[in-house]
Amino acid sequence: MLQTHAPRSLKTPVGKSTLAITDITAEASRLDAFDDHERVWHGRDEKRGLNAIVAIHDTTLGPGLGGTRVWPHETFEAALTDVLRLSRGMTFKSAVAGMDFGGGKALIIADPKTDKTPALLEAYAEMLAALEGQFFTGEDVGFTVADADFLRARTPNVTGTTVGGSGNPSPVTAHGVFLGLKAALKHRGVGRLDGVHVAVQGLGSVGWTLCEKLHAEGARLTVADIDAARTRKAGETFGAEPVATDAILAVPAQVFAPCALGGVLSATSIPSLGARIVAGAANNQLARHEDARLLMQRGVLYAPDYVINAGGLINVAAELAPGGYDREATMAKVAEIPETLRDIFERAEAQDRPTNDIAAEIAYERINAARKRH
Ligand code: NAI
Repeated sequence: MLQTHAPRSLKTPVGKSTLAITDITAEASRLDAFDDHERVWHGRDEKRGLNAIVAIHDTTLGPGLGGTRVWPHETFEAALTDVLRLSRGMTFKSAVAGMDFGGGKALIIADPKTDKTPALLEAYAEMLAALEGQFFTGEDVGFTVADADFLRARTPNVTGTTVGGSGNPSPVTAHGVFLGLKAALKHRGVGRLDGVHVAVQGLGSVGWTLCEKLHAEGARLTVADIDAARTRKAGETFGAEPVATDAILAVPAQVFAPCALGGVLSATSIPSLGARIVAGAANNQLARHEDARLLMQRGVLYAPDYVINAGGLINVAAELAPGGYDREATMAKVAEIPETLRDIFERAEAQDRPTNDIAAEIAYERINAARKRH
């Protein structure tokens, strides 16, 4: 029988907790994004303002590991779809990066700017503790290192903390994306960044650091962010040209680097894509898995998101290793990202298949081998 790390039941919260955790796996299974998740939990605490979902996709390789996103989705179904897609992506990300972790992700439905109170985080810490170490989490959009530190003081299931941990994974993610972007350019015969035009969407933790690295090696940048102050600052700092958020995709750059939210590459948007390489940090860049074929038909080299953005995962996973965090070993592992991408690009070309099909195949090879061993 398949060994699973996903909890079937929960530790009962002690004392008079106002937190209620329910198993919503059956409800989630009705959505297209479900894809055989092992378990989906809903944590609700009206008094403390918590409305959270923890999705555990596949734990064949180890316990679920994935960030916590804080985002004010308009409907519960939209939030559930988002977290299911992200959680599934984590399974592939861990598998391709050679980590002994499974896929999981959490989503707190809230506005990170106004709703993330200590009471809400307290309730969320209780929810994580109830999962009894079967799910480990850390930073994501709307969830900061300070939030991770706050949780770490209350539950051990948190990584990427500053207290004895590896800290913010974003610079490591950005480094991996930078190396991967260069590998994609090299595959297309461009050996240096000097003068290469890159369109960066999203100037947050990862996007900004990526711009720093690209600028340092002479790349020409065009940037967009919903936060006008960030694009202005990128203009001042990197000489980047700011464009409207709905114009970045069509910029005739050599590389498009999506570093905001997911779903930017779709049947509607791909025909207007200006670049012939997509290499960026955002999770779930494709609206649908099949859209990678549209990219291929357009002659676009796509660096699969969960391969190129694995640096952060590698970094936080290292923190959970038996010997503790080892920076050198972590960066050596991140330096394997371009090699993995090269292999994917070559196999995709040789077999005339989309790059994300090849990446998924690599992930399944590893997961299926582990299933056979169990
Ligand atoms: P962040 O929240 O720091 O930055 C996101 C940026 O995108 C913000 O500046 C935001 O204003 C901007 N943005 C949002 N919607 C936009 C739009 N429609 N057009 C242009 N800009 C928009 O997030 P972070 O940490 O930089 O992550 C970026 C992406 O990379 C996310 O998809 C995240 O899931 C993914 N990722 C991040 C990792 C990390 O270590 N931080 C690891 C792996 C993936």
